[in-house]
Amino acid sequence: MLRTPAASAVSSLLTRQSAAFLPKPQTTLRCLSRTSAPRPKLVTQSPAQKTTARPIATMSATPLLELIKARRSYYPLSKDLPISKERISEIVKEATLHVPSSFNAQPTRVVVLFGAEHEKLWDITIEVLKGIVPEDSWKATGDKLNMFKASGGSVLFFDDEETVKGQQTAFPLYSDRFQPWATQANGMLQHTVWVALEAEGLGANLQHYNPLIDQKVAAQWGLPASWKLNAQLVFGGKTGEAGEKSFIPVDDRVKVFGA
Ligand SMILES: Cc1cc2nc3c(=O)[nH]c(=O)nc-3n(C[C@H](O)[C@H](O)[C@H](O)COP(=O)(O)O)c2cc1C
Repeated sequence: MLRTPAASAVSSLLTRQSAAFLPKPQTTLRCLSRTSAPRPKLVTQSPAQKTTARPIATMSATPLLELIKARRSYYPLSKDLPISKERISEIVKEATLHVPSSFNAQPTRVVVLFGAEHEKLWDITIEVLKGIVPEDSWKATGDKLNMFKASGGSVLFFDDEETVKGQQTAFPLYSDRFQPWATQANGMLQHTVWVALEAEGLGANLQHYNPLIDQKVAAQWGLPASWKLNAQLVFGGKTGEAGEKSFIPVDDRVKVFGA
């Protein structure tokens, strides 16, 4: 398959960064060995993969920042996907593997839905919201949900509560921090996938119909009860431009000292 320069840039950035920062396997084992949750099978990076990594100091942040700037919210989206479903799945898996999490606990879980499976998600959402939204305002809600259904696919992001509980048991000192940290790791993954899909020519937008749809989603795809839905990233072919975006002056948001 033809890869755009942006696609190659994001792919190589993900690979190089992950190789440069992979924690020592024993760190991973030590953290997980004290949790009460069943320990997942751990896979460590092979020496061959390590030798392909360029030292981080030789890289420029500019291509990554360009990709970050290029990512926007796109609505509506079409079912014409500029890359294969396999490639989209690969992007999601690569990002899921390498986006960081506190103590390397890896609490994020992901479901990728294409075609009829994606449409089922939005039929579920339509069914649930129809029971809640007043009839006189249903049209706008229904139109919006049908717009998501008409898109190419959805990525569902979950926090695994078993992993969070395991961390809370293992490290009581940080007990109240593990849920926010799991949510932060989830947000990092959402952004990474969003940017990577943008890099390969797709458009996407982020939705939050959780917790309303959680039970039906778990039942539909037979997901573990511990997977708590966090967000839905809808993706597809772009059908137009992103809307205007305004910015608070960055110097009101970022203070630099000692430069
Ligand atoms: C944490 C978070 C939650 C969001 N929730 C929604 C949402 O529920 N529905 C939606 O249409 N957009 C949602 N967005 C998208 C934002 O509205 C959008 O990213 C922001 O307005 C900036 O526009 P841009 O994505 O085009 O850069 C969310 C974004 C973030 C980061």
